[in-house]
Amino acid sequence: MPAIEAVQELTPKEREERGEQLRQSGIVIRTYDLWKTYIMGDQEIHAVSGVDIEIHRGEYVAIMGPSGSGKSTLMNLIGCLDTPTKGFYYLNGKLASEMEDDELARIRNKEIGFVFQTFNLLARASALHNVELPLIYAGVSSQERAQRARDALRAVDLEQRMHHKPNELSGGQRQRVAIARALVNRPSILLADEPTGALDTSTGNEIMTLFDRLYREGNTIVLVTHEPDIAAHAHRVIHIRDGKVERDEATTRARQNQPVVS
Ligand SMILES: Nc1ncnc2c1ncn2[C@@H]1O[C@H](COP(=O)(O)OP(=O)(O)OP(=O)(O)O)[C@@H](O)[C@H]1O
Ligand SMILES: [Mg+2]
Repeated sequence: MPAIEAVQELTPKEREERGEQLRQSGIVIRTYDLWKTYIMGDQEIHAVSGVDIEIHRGEYVAIMGPSGSGKSTLMNLIGCLDTPTKGFYYLNGKLASEMEDDELARIRNKEIGFVFQTFNLLARASALHNVELPLIYAGVSSQERAQRARDALRAVDLEQRMHHKPNELSGGQRQRVAIARALVNRPSILLADEPTGALDTSTGNEIMTLFDRLYREGNTIVLVTHEPDIAAHAHRVIHIRDGKVERDEATTRARQNQPVVS
């Protein structure tokens, strides 16, 4: 693995070439010594402190760690919702850590599908309209939008509920709408921060079965969880503590079925 200095010392053109090499090797996420530091009064909080991770296309990765260990902060960096204080981040071959806000918003809309613990749906909009939103930002025509949103809802078995608003849906159905919305732009990666955290066990299992299927269909999935049972669905677990990668291991599932790609 090339060291951080290797990126720091590269010319802009060489940095671009590095991105292209990563992309051609099927590496969708590559961070080099990534940091996020918050200043609170006279205190510095290193929420993410020197993280090097590499995730290949088609992997299913769980991120685990105690509360406050930096999981959400790391997910927000990976999801381009936030920018690092220091370090480099390549997303699908592009150096996201060097991007300005508007470019970051564009790459996020194109490459990332985000699923949150509390769904984050528009309360007044139908399931169909919620799923259409990312396509509106992407400038897709209204006819194609409706078609693709409908297809995405069908993929999560919710076509019959497409005219319902969030408060007319069950928790599991709301999360499935959020997953359809995350997938509608065909992103490079699906990021989920505690996607089952607000659901009861059996509804949570239903969502995990859906993630299993999405993984088998070739999606790249990174999910944050507290629960070992949920993490066991993934093929690889990255353990985070105090903002650092403590351990990176293949799960039993990976050892039984197939090797982890990286
Ligand atoms: N905007 C912020 N300003 C200052 N400190 C922050 C901010 N966001 C997070 N932190 C701090 O950074 C650390 C990591 O927070 P983060 O939300 O990433 O943890 P987490 O692993 O997701 O925890 P949980 O499992 O409880 O969701 C915590 O100590 C938190 O207090
Ligand atoms: Mg969190």
